[in-house]
Amino acid sequence: MTPTLNRPALDRVIAVINGKGGVLKTTLTANIGGMLASSGFRVLLVDLDPQGNLAEDLGYTDDNRDDAGRALAQALMFGGGAEPLRDVRPNLDVFAGGPALDQATAGLAAKANKDPDGAKLAVAHLLEPLANNYDMIIIDCPPGDETLQTAAVAAARWALVPVKSDKSSRKGLGAVAARLDAVLSVNPTLDLLGVVLVDVGTSAHVVQREAREHIAQLFNADHNVVFTATVRHSEATAQATRERGLLVHELDVQVRKGPKWYDIRRGEAQAQPLAPRTAGSVADDLQAITQEVVARITAAEKQSVRA
Ligand SMILES: Nc1ncnc2c1ncn2[C@@H]1O[C@H](COP(=O)(O)OP(=O)(O)OP(=O)(O)O)[C@@H](O)[C@H]1O
Ligand SMILES: [Mg+2]
Repeated sequence: MTPTLNRPALDRVIAVINGKGGVLKTTLTANIGGMLASSGFRVLLVDLDPQGNLAEDLGYTDDNRDDAGRALAQALMFGGGAEPLRDVRPNLDVFAGGPALDQATAGLAAKANKDPDGAKLAVAHLLEPLANNYDMIIIDCPPGDETLQTAAVAAARWALVPVKSDKSSRKGLGAVAARLDAVLSVNPTLDLLGVVLVDVGTSAHVVQREAREHIAQLFNADHNVVFTATVRHSEATAQATRERGLLVHELDVQVRKGPKWYDIRRGEAQAQPLAPRTAGSVADDLQAITQEVVARITAAEKQSVRA
């Protein structure tokens, strides 16, 4: 029998989820986590994706502690707990993901035949004894893989859903809403923290307004369900961060410290490869998202104390 779960321990767990690929789930997980950690929050990130992309965003691909998801997969299949990688940044620990998680998917699917709720709650049971050590736990969900997505939202107090603003991307949100509903029987505390519009063009106000209205309808919620802050499109920044294993605000600091354009023109300094000036603006966007995450959670926590 699956042991009972101390739900209140998990009230600062966020699952970043959308069944669609390439909507900045990993980018948001890494950067929100990194910004919170740099401002003093104790943060745990969980990479539940067999692609293991969080390692690129945080730059631990060459760290020999990165076990490509083996420890995480073992713990999910057999219980018994696992140790995250400590201090990937100050205040920031990570459960590394990677190909080993494919076994966890198969293992959990088999377990679900005998104990469906136990399989759904595998991530919750892994996190519960650790949660006290952290102010925020953020789970990066894989695209596509239903079993792991379900286990993530079954562990979470909050779902954060990034989406591109175009119509065809928005269509996938119906499936996300259904996945959240489907898990309420094992996790009645789950709530939608909000939807984040990503990869937004600068001149797309009309598109954004329409997208906000449509998304509110899809989730049967008011317009506030969509975050005020958005993440602008910048391929150059995205590429430079992953190549260097830096978060966007860290890249921004590097760019600012780099040589000035006039020194480069005078031949007094060498241009840095791929040092996009947009890094500062993207870092501002991510900072605004991070602040909104904290503001929304704090407001909800205050309200629940009053109730
Ligand atoms: N602001 C941005 N503008 C454009 N591209 C970006 C931006 N931020 C990140 N990217 C790039 O977009 C791609 C998808 O981002 P990311 O990996 O975070 O999405 P994902 O939802 O986690 O994808 P997957 O579903 O494959 O896990 C990556 O190549 C990433 O580097
Ligand atoms: Mg990802």
